[in-house]
Amino acid sequence: MLPYDVLDYASRAKFYFILRHDTPVRHTPRSFKSGNCFSTVSVHSDEFKAQNDNQAARSLETFIISMQPEENTSRVPQKMVGWYDPLQLLQTAQQVAVSSVFGQYSDHRLVEVLAVHKQPVDYHDYTKKEDGREREEIWIDYVSDTGDGWDSTYAIAYYASQPSLSVTESDGQAYHTRPGSILILGGDEVYPTPSRKEYNARLVCPYEIAQKKTSPPHPHVFAIPGNHDWYDGLVAFTRLFLCKDWFAGWKCPQQRSYFALKLPHDWWLMGTDVQLGSDIDGPQVEYFKKAAAAMGPHDRIILCNAEPHWIYEHIYSEYDHEVFNESNLKFLESEVFHREIDIFLAGDLHHYRRHESIKDGVRKQKITAGGGGAFLHPTHGPDVSSLAEGYELKKSFPEPNISARLCWRNLAFPLFNKYFGALTGGFYLLTAWMVLAPIANLGLKEGWAAVEITFETIIRDPVIALWIVLVFAGIWLFTDTHSRKYRFLAGTVHGLAHLLAIFGLGWAAGYLSSELLGFRGFWSFPIAGVIIFAGGWIIGSCLMGLYLAISLNLFHRHQNEAFSSLGSPDWKNFLRLKINRDGLTLFPIGIRRVPRRWKPSTGIVSKMEPDDRSASEPELIESPIKI
Ligand SMILES: [Fe+2]
Repeated sequence: MLPYDVLDYASRAKFYFILRHDTPVRHTPRSFKSGNCFSTVSVHSDEFKAQNDNQAARSLETFIISMQPEENTSRVPQKMVGWYDPLQLLQTAQQVAVSSVFGQYSDHRLVEVLAVHKQPVDYHDYTKKEDGREREEIWIDYVSDTGDGWDSTYAIAYYASQPSLSVTESDGQAYHTRPGSILILGGDEVYPTPSRKEYNARLVCPYEIAQKKTSPPHPHVFAIPGNHDWYDGLVAFTRLFLCKDWFAGWKCPQQRSYFALKLPHDWWLMGTDVQLGSDIDGPQVEYFKKAAAAMGPHDRIILCNAEPHWIYEHIYSEYDHEVFNESNLKFLESEVFHREIDIFLAGDLHHYRRHESIKDGVRKQKITAGGGGAFLHPTHGPDVSSLAEGYELKKSFPEPNISARLCWRNLAFPLFNKYFGALTGGFYLLTAWMVLAPIANLGLKEGWAAVEITFETIIRDPVIALWIVLVFAGIWLFTDTHSRKYRFLAGTVHGLAHLLAIFGLGWAAGYLSSELLGFRGFWSFPIAGVIIFAGGWIIGSCLMGLYLAISLNLFHRHQNEAFSSLGSPDWKNFLRLKINRDGLTLFPIGIRRVPRRWKPSTGIVSKMEPDDRSASEPELIESPIKI
């Protein structure tokens, strides 16, 4: 029976509820397009009451959830974060600035140590099953950089949750894999900035729909915070993973933002928290030392780090060695674990790239696999084919040539970033307004005179001259900050291109409104202003896209900016590890194109399943890696 107050509420009002495939509604939509609110339909109370109680009871849980406004909005499928939306740019800048300051003066990891409410342990032991018997085999899933748009985040959550997943190599050989008894979330669990609402909407919701309930033995989840989790000082992350007992269908035994897991057959998995400043705090070092004390002489380590320091050191250490280096990892190896780490895993870069070195016949791995949901990062650009200590690049997903081709999509920048133009349009208008050179009556043949008059207008007024200097300063700041030379040269060219565009647009708008359209006096100004704003919206965006495409494809700069602009949900990946008596086998699983359409699932684990023929099936990115 439904509780009286729920029925009463239903009988009085038209209400909304979350749709499940067993929900008693006659007109169930067959499938839903992403971007719409797929899970919300409205029905009248008499329809609901017409169903028998058993059916209604099955829907009760989702029905009640739907009556809570906050939860209801979290059920709306999220679009990929629009990093170039003006409001988003402001919000990100503000949160990064605040967190950087507070991160230095108030380290949440120190508070965690005092605030653990679960029974403290030195490490989590997975060598035995729940019934006390030795565990012969364990499967672990590694998913990093999740919590962005619905399609990409849910695609990975869905495939990682299925009772079995067959993946095929390019030569046709199939492998049957099983879902992890442990799920490792490798960092940046949510985008763009953390809050309870964003975690619910972008991470918890997809994982609950993928697997809300499990039967014993329940899988466990451990999460590493990345920089995006740290932007609120780790408050929302702590509430989600350290204070609660469940994350969707996974149990949360985690006690701190870092962890040590003892695995069967002499393997350990360590998860670090390097905060925003890429450092490891004292209590964390002590924690890992205790775990290290429990290691046998032949025990081997998988280390999960939020950032691939081996890539950043290679690319950026010549510009800022203080920040971009592998000293954290080396410190852990030499001073804490007293052995070399066998497998490094990291996200932060949203692609798959594996580097391998063979030392004394032992294969060692450094793998970047941040493909859990966030926009794709390029695999072309700076040369990372050989890293320090003999690590060689073995595989990239997507291949660098595909990545370079994708980058040219920036030429259609305004289509991917519809609202960015408001920023350039406003900036073009403001600049033209300030300069207001009297050139509207000059024709094309008087181009040089127009340039001279404009230049004279600028240098005669110190406020305008200062404004132009500020414009250049802003563009230099935006330009890839690692190379000063590139920042100055490319920033100058980029700035001049915009100023030239403003000059041309301002001149054309003045000529168009007064000479061609015949507006004189007062009306010529607003008409010209509208033309400048609209033209600046399009031309400014196009120039930005052109700048990003050229910067990355020709000069290997702006890897992040030139791909966050595309917001591609495709080319996703996660890692599946199997440890048994034969050793460790690592299955890198990729999806080239994630589904865009979903329908209620007929399976027992997930509530939604793909309904998109253009989507790709999960595949093995490369042959399983045996260690
Ligand atoms: Fe990330």
